[in-house]
Amino acid sequence: MAQTSQAKAQTMRAVALDKFGGPEALKIQNLPIPQIEDNEILIRVEAAGVGAWDPIEREGRFVEIMGVKPKFPYVLGTDGAGTVAAVGEKVRDFKEGDRVYAAELANPKGGFYAQYTAVNADNASLIPQRLTVEQAAVLPSDGLTALTGLQKVLGLKSGESLMVYGASGGIGHLAIQLAKRLGANVFAVASGDDGVQFAKKLGADRAVDGRGEDVLEAAKKFATNGIDAALVTAGGEETDEALLAIRQGGRIAYPHGVMPEPTAPEHVAIEAYDGETSPALIARLNELIGAGPFEVHVGRTFQLEEVSNAHKALGEHHLGKIALRIQ
Ligand SMILES: NC(=O)c1ccc[n+]([C@@H]2O[C@H](COP(=O)([O-])OP(=O)(O)OC[C@H]3O[C@@H](n4cnc5c(N)ncnc54)[C@H](OP(=O)(O)O)[C@@H]3O)[C@@H](O)[C@H]2O)c1
Repeated sequence: MAQTSQAKAQTMRAVALDKFGGPEALKIQNLPIPQIEDNEILIRVEAAGVGAWDPIEREGRFVEIMGVKPKFPYVLGTDGAGTVAAVGEKVRDFKEGDRVYAAELANPKGGFYAQYTAVNADNASLIPQRLTVEQAAVLPSDGLTALTGLQKVLGLKSGESLMVYGASGGIGHLAIQLAKRLGANVFAVASGDDGVQFAKKLGADRAVDGRGEDVLEAAKKFATNGIDAALVTAGGEETDEALLAIRQGGRIAYPHGVMPEPTAPEHVAIEAYDGETSPALIARLNELIGAGPFEVHVGRTFQLEEVSNAHKALGEHHLGKIALRIQ
């Protein structure tokens, strides 16, 4: 194990839970800097993603679902970005000083709501050119979830039509752009007028307001023989009605966590899935992003001290992602 100079300080500031609970349970604490194993890197975190699932993890429902025993103080934060402060002895792809982003779910050593985090090097990547550190911080969980859904679960092919439901949100806004890069015709169901404008700007071929417009009618006009596939990131009666526009033999994918769970019309395949990660998938994400202008949208940014407000903001209308500035 090679803990190097930049990590010589023994403690760090982190947002940690002493017990699961509401936003008020998030407390700034001084904690020991995590030690790295041979296959890990230590990241000096500059920004973290605030995930739509973070409140669920904060309330303790995540560890229940995953069947793991939580260790307190518990540091949230599935993804983030910063600078490599130390590398494990078996790590070949990174060196001290590299600018990286990474995602690791329910990391027992603590997440990204901290000045330092230790992650498996396989879960990290150099930050793609053109992305700011905040954009890189919010990218990996939702980017990899969008890509897993489009490529692996839906097997999206060039020329196919795709509905992205929840298109102005974290996964949705990335999915529009990735699907366009994969050659799909994208019908975006976004939230509000600003969401519709945003989805159009990102390249959607048609964008409608799922909170006001007749989505089914618009979708039928978009693809008269029915839409080939759908990636769904928000559930409810409106979602199920919109999904009637998917053609027979078509397919629907949604990440676990979307509630209420969407239901498929007859003769349409539906699959719930989890975002995957591997060095190859991260490289593919970077490649698609690097193929032209790509917007990772940080709708709101909060300072570490404002973390409770960041969690509250998740429940308020916003575009794209929310970032937490760590230092
Ligand atoms: N299993 C996994 O691997 C995995 C990974 C990542 C995420 N997830 C889950 O996937 C879900 C989506 O994640 P996310 O990061 O994309 O969340 P998000 O940023 O909250 O996106 C959901 C979007 O849906 C919009 N929406 C809600 N109702 C709508 C409607 N009727 N018409 C149009 N848009 C509507 C929301 O708009 P407003 O802003 O107006 O509410 C929001 O923009 C969450 O449940 C998350 O926990 C699972």
